[in-house]
Amino acid sequence: MRRAVCPGSFDPLHHGHLEVIARAAKLFDEVIVAVSTNYSKTYRFTEDERLEMTREAVADIEGVRVEPMGDGLLADFCREQGAEAIVKGIRNAQDFNYEVPMALMNRHLTGVETVFLPAESAMSHVSSTMIKEVFDLGGDVAAFVPGAVLAGLERTRS
Ligand code: PNS
Repeated sequence: MRRAVCPGSFDPLHHGHLEVIARAAKLFDEVIVAVSTNYSKTYRFTEDERLEMTREAVADIEGVRVEPMGDGLLADFCREQGAEAIVKGIRNAQDFNYEVPMALMNRHLTGVETVFLPAESAMSHVSSTMIKEVFDLGGDVAAFVPGAVLAGLERTRS
């Protein structure tokens, strides 16, 4: 069983994440989408909301399950789950420069390897932060998020 972890805050999950998860599911027997919660960070959505929206969004992708990761080390989570790889999407050089030191540290900690997938160009400008800002300012983000996330965003509208 070749198992990989796709980690993230998923606050909220968007189509760029989904694209990477779907591609990872073709490369590995099982993909665990790890929803992290750093307890010193502020999120738009609670951990339960992020888990629920993410589970609904990946329901049709075979071989994928969604688990909470808490605020521990990603490398430890991978070891506990029996995952040999972390899969991350890379949108640009900034992502690459940010991710490579983390990949090397994770490998140092437990031997887990990181696989980088280049983001589809149509998704390379998309981020959770940008989606929240555009949504809050009245912009249409329906093209970038699954239905469950759009409904979740609507619920947060004050
Ligand atoms: O979606 P995000 O917020 O960019 O996800 C970042 C995440 C969760 C992948 C990253 O913060 C992470 O790996 N957190 C776990 C803590 C950890 O292992 N830190 C050491 C990294 S070398």
